[in-house]
Amino acid sequence: MIPSRIHLAPMEGLMDAPLRTLVTAVGGYDLCTSEFVRVTPQRLPDRVFHRFGPELSHASATPSGTPFRIQLLGSDPEFMALNALTAVRLGSPSIDLNFGCPAKTVNKSQGGSILLKQTALIHRITRTVRDALPAHIALTVKMRLGYDDPSVCVDNALAFEDAGASELVVHARTKTDAYRPPAHWHYLRDIREALAIPVVANGEVWTREDWQRCYESSGCEQLMIGRGAVARPDLAMQLKDPDFTPWSWTDYLDALMRYWELLSDMLARHECNDAYRIIRIKQWLNQSQRGFDQGPSLFNAVKRLRAADEVYATISAAQRLTR
Ligand SMILES: Cc1cc2nc3c(=O)[nH]c(=O)nc-3n(C[C@H](O)[C@H](O)[C@H](O)COP(=O)(O)O)c2cc1C
Repeated sequence: MIPSRIHLAPMEGLMDAPLRTLVTAVGGYDLCTSEFVRVTPQRLPDRVFHRFGPELSHASATPSGTPFRIQLLGSDPEFMALNALTAVRLGSPSIDLNFGCPAKTVNKSQGGSILLKQTALIHRITRTVRDALPAHIALTVKMRLGYDDPSVCVDNALAFEDAGASELVVHARTKTDAYRPPAHWHYLRDIREALAIPVVANGEVWTREDWQRCYESSGCEQLMIGRGAVARPDLAMQLKDPDFTPWSWTDYLDALMRYWELLSDMLARHECNDAYRIIRIKQWLNQSQRGFDQGPSLFNAVKRLRAADEVYATISAAQRLTR
C-alpha cells in the first residue's frame, strides 16, 4: 500500500527551515509544518512567524514546492485565535494545533499533551480558532493518544472533529509513553472508524516494513513521518516509489554538507549564531545513526567538538573517504 499523502512532521529543535528545504527536495512529501509556535497571552509579532516559517515569504512553500503551514501550541482560546489569524494574514494556508507536546515546561504552563486530560477545553480552543478563521482556511489538529490513558483517544478525537477540525494527525502513543517503542497503531483504527474526517497515522515508521504494519493495524491511508525523515531523508520516496534507489551514505553526506551551507547562509544573514549551526548539525547526525550503518562513527567523531571549523573538517574528511 502506497500512502495517499505523506506529511513531514513538525519537530521543534530539529526540523528547521533549512532541513525542511533539504528533506522536501528529496521528494515524496505532500505537506510540511513549522516547529510549534508557542502562544502566550499576547499578539505575537510578525517576526516570530517569519522566524519559524521563512517559507511564509515564498508563497508558503519550500523551495521544491512542498506546501508549508504554521503550527500553534497554547491553551488560551482567544489568543490562539488571534495568533492563528496573524499566521493566516502572513500566508499560512492552513493552521495546525498541537495537543501532543510532552515537554515538562510546556505542560506546566497548560500547553501540549496535558490538555488531553481536558476534553471540554480542547473543544473550546479548537472551536474558538475555527470560528475566527475564514472558512477556506483549514484547521487541523495533532494529538497523542492521551496524557497517561489511551482510552480517552476516541472521545478527544470526536471533540476535535465536532469543534471543526478537518483532519487529525495522531501520534500513536501517550505522553507517558514519551518516544518509547512500540507505537500503538491499533488505537488509530478505533479513532478512524469513529470519525468522518481523515486520520493521519504517526509514530515509529522508519522503514517500508514499518509502514506496511502501521497500515494493516490502523487502516490509515495517510502517514506523517518524524524522526524517520531525518534518519532517512529518502524514506518518503522509498514508500511512494517501489523503483526508487535508496540513498547511499555518500548521498547523505552530500546533503549534510548542503545543510552546513544553508546554516552558514543563515549565520551570514545574522538569523542564527554559530552555536545553533553546530547544534543543528549534531542533531541531524545523531538521527542518522538510525538510518545509516556509518552514522554512529561519524556522530561519535563530531559529538564533542566545539569549534565550527573542526566540525566542518570532520564531515569533509568523511565525505572525501567516500569518493
Ligand atoms: C525533537 C522532536 C521535536 C518535536 N517537536 C514537535 C513539534 O514542534 N510539534 C509537534 O506537533 N510534534 C513534535 N514532535 C513530535 C513529532 O512530530 C512526531 O509526532 C513524533 O516524533 C512521532 O513520530 P516519529 O516516530 O515518526 O518520529 C517532536 C518530536 C521530536 C523527536
